[in-house]
Amino acid sequence: MEDICFCFLWIVRCELMFMLLLSGHSEGLQVIGGRVTVVQGATVTLPCQLTDSKETLKQILWQRSTRGRPFRDNFFIILEKNGKYPIELTDDRFRFVGNFTEKNGSLQLSNASLMDEGSYSCIFLLLESGNHKTEVSLNLLVPPVTSLKNESVVLGSEEVLLATCTAAAARPPGEVRWVTGNAKVRVTTNSTRHDNDTTTTKSSLFGVPTRDLDGQLIQCVVSSVALDTDKFQPFFLQLFFSPSNVSIIESSDDSLLCISEARPEPTFNWTRSGLALPLSGVRAEGAQLKFLSRSLDLKGLYHCEVSNLYGRQSAQVFVHVLSVSPPSLVIGWILFGLLLLIVAAFTCYRFGFLKRFTEKKNFQGVPTTESTPKEESRQAAAKGLDEGESHL
Ligand SMILES: *[C@@H]1O[C@H](CO)[C@@H](O)[C@H](O)[C@H]1NC(C)=O
Ligand SMILES: *[C@@H]1O[C@H](CO)[C@@H](O)[C@H](O)[C@H]1NC(C)=O
Ligand SMILES: *[C@@H]1O[C@H](CO)[C@@H](O)[C@H](O)[C@H]1NC(C)=O
Ligand SMILES: *[C@@H]1O[C@H](CO)[C@@H](O)[C@H](O)[C@H]1NC(C)=O
Ligand SMILES: *[C@@H]1O[C@H](CO)[C@@H](O)[C@H](O)[C@H]1NC(C)=O
Ligand SMILES: *[C@@H]1O[C@H](CO)[C@@H](O)[C@H](O)[C@H]1NC(C)=O
Ligand SMILES: *[C@@H]1O[C@H](CO)[C@@H](O)[C@H](O)[C@H]1NC(C)=O
Ligand SMILES: *[C@@H]1O[C@H](CO)[C@@H](O)[C@H](O)[C@H]1NC(C)=O
Repeated sequence: MEDICFCFLWIVRCELMFMLLLSGHSEGLQVIGGRVTVVQGATVTLPCQLTDSKETLKQILWQRSTRGRPFRDNFFIILEKNGKYPIELTDDRFRFVGNFTEKNGSLQLSNASLMDEGSYSCIFLLLESGNHKTEVSLNLLVPPVTSLKNESVVLGSEEVLLATCTAAAARPPGEVRWVTGNAKVRVTTNSTRHDNDTTTTKSSLFGVPTRDLDGQLIQCVVSSVALDTDKFQPFFLQLFFSPSNVSIIESSDDSLLCISEARPEPTFNWTRSGLALPLSGVRAEGAQLKFLSRSLDLKGLYHCEVSNLYGRQSAQVFVHVLSVSPPSLVIGWILFGLLLLIVAAFTCYRFGFLKRFTEKKNFQGVPTTESTPKEESRQAAAKGLDEGESHL
């Protein structure tokens, strides 16, 4: 029994010695690998270098075991064949960037994806000592997909959700914060981890939608080591409210204007004594009501109803008889004045003609009969004046 035991131990020792010998043989040789990190979509070099070896290199083989291919497969081989180095590959995103004669087996991977994350083995096959292997582990960073949703917020006094900012499917999880000036707000953050080890972070912004919050600049800021710079997503908080402060003003001498405060932009409905327009002689154009004529039957109580998605409010005004407006009166007086002038001019003309005629006669005739022409002209002037007055 003891003999058998001894024999067994001896065999074990023998094997141990053999193994020690083997590793002793390759002492001094070193394969340098490493750990590399890359951002999804970028290009990365998987480093691999055999040092301190004078032996002939026969082949460089790469194996991988990744998230996308959990079962170890040979995906890249570089051989030495009559001084040439043909490459066999199964994934053309990989490119040999090393140097066979320098025993540099580095590979470059472009457009890295989360599925490429895992461990890679770089194996050098030497003519005498056989295989020498090292591991390169590849780590993926996934930048967050950022988005912002601002809610339709209605003016009020209760706390409501103002906006939600999301940093989706990131690795490591994206950090979300808010820049809100001095607005009084509350933030809750929630994150969900997905099967592919990415995390979605959702941050909600709450606040009481009071008037002083309206127009406030709010920014959601997402940070991640996978992003070059922080991502700012700004928006102006726009509160919605039903029409208020409705009033009617006279915008010009022939139209009324309905003014109000409302968001979104309201619609206007003009009516007269509860009856829908149009009436002939008046035309509603949005907030404006235009009077096209000055007919007496346009008088009455006019309503302007302002409404939007959130409510309605109205105002009313009584429109009295629309008398002739000042500008037309002025024109009337000007015309009257012109008429007077024409009449006067005509009268003067006639007076003047007769006068000249009599003067001519005087030059031709004897200067003794002085009184006669004067009497004639006076009569004529009186006649002319009589005619002008009748015209009025
Ligand atoms: C091996 O090749 C890679 C890629 O060209 C290079 O970056 C690296 O410096 C090389 N290694 C050595 C030890 O020369
Ligand atoms: C590889 O290295 C050898 C020796 O340093 C050099 O002569 C050769 O040009 C290199 N090959 C490439 C493709 O860089
Ligand atoms: C990068 O890879 C993704 C899938 O992982 C693919 O949709 C995309 O088209 C690739 N981009 C380039 C430039 O090849
Ligand atoms: C986080 O999200 C989960 C699932 O959507 C939900 O049940 C939970 O209430 C959320 N927590 C907070 C603080 O919003
Ligand atoms: C990870 O999973 C999430 C949820 O299924 C998905 O939205 C996302 O696109 C995935 N990311 C990658 C890089 O595959
Ligand atoms: C969200 O913000 C944008 C930009 O400030 C704005 O144009 C849009 O109307 C807002 N949407 C809502 C629903 O408030
Ligand atoms: C209505 O007018 C008053 C006084 O001008 C003002 O204080 C108030 O804020 C206005 N209301 C709205 C909703 O604009
Ligand atoms: C305007 O108001 C009148 C009376 O209330 C109503 O009959 C009519 O349908 C309204 N028109 C519109 C466009 O809302």
